[in-house]
Amino acid sequence: MERIPIIIDCDPGVDDALAIILALHHPKVQLRALCSVTGNGNLENTTRNAKDILALCQRRDIPVYQGCGVALDGVQPETVESSFGDDGLGGYAASIASDNEVRQEHAVDFLLREISEHPGEITLFAIGPCTNIAHAIRRDATFAGKVKRLIVMGGAKGTGNMSPVAEYNFWADPLAAKEVFEAGFPKVDMIGLDVTNKIALGADVREMMRIFDTPISRFIYHATQKGVDDNWDFARRPVAPMHDVLTVGYLIDESILEMQDAFIEIETDGLSKGQSLVDIGGYWHNGQCNARYAASVDSRKFYQLFLTTVFHEKVNEINEFMKKEWR
Ligand code: RIB
Ligand code: CA
Repeated sequence: MERIPIIIDCDPGVDDALAIILALHHPKVQLRALCSVTGNGNLENTTRNAKDILALCQRRDIPVYQGCGVALDGVQPETVESSFGDDGLGGYAASIASDNEVRQEHAVDFLLREISEHPGEITLFAIGPCTNIAHAIRRDATFAGKVKRLIVMGGAKGTGNMSPVAEYNFWADPLAAKEVFEAGFPKVDMIGLDVTNKIALGADVREMMRIFDTPISRFIYHATQKGVDDNWDFARRPVAPMHDVLTVGYLIDESILEMQDAFIEIETDGLSKGQSLVDIGGYWHNGQCNARYAASVDSRKFYQLFLTTVFHEKVNEINEFMKKEWR
């Protein structure tokens, strides 16, 4: 099987962690590096969490590069302790603490070097604020064109999660998101809240994690508790956020999502700061498109993939569950 080389730019974050775990477990994916950025937590937390998640998965061979601690405007964005706790992993970071190390090279320098050395080969994932990627674009006008494909968790055509119209990653650094969508990446897929909200982790799958009782299933079970509590308090939905992991599921099996061609622009000021304006009707720009937008998701297919990939030793039990119990 030809493996797909990827780099994940992330702000772990529990759902970032799940994306990393899925990427590490699927034979089709070759995770080359993690780049950390401030977002769900401050840069110290997101960087530490990235290296410790790799140690949890026994993949200390994969390098971690620390990125930007503030947005393009020089201000650290508001972090999201409500969903992910003070440590970014629902209070479970200490339980996976490791002496795994972070590389000295800055993430932006790494991105510029790695993409230049492998033009047209690497799929780049942006599952946190787009700050690192925007700096790379600003420093090298040819950077975007040398990335094979950009897959972004961010935005929403509908309701946001930081305002009525803005999703967190684009809200935290709207200028970075704007410049990413204007940069001319050959292929951009925006996977937003319209679909990621539909794959939130429910009690049945979360209990499965407790029953499986492996280091990774225990991590998922405990680290998602804070997100469940937050969603219950905020929306009376006892489910945990699973936003980022859908991006990796989509890379592995594109049939999980229905994508539509769109022209996507990001608002950077005022009440609508961070809003992704998703034009799928060709109203603007003479019908040209700069990205594809994830319009719908097959959540059953996603969970079948996620569970049987990460817990392959339990495939028979998972298939019985999916056949008998899947909601
Ligand atoms: O809005 C969801 C996004 O914000 C996810 O990437 C989550 O990890 C947070 O970064
Ligand atoms: Ca994230």
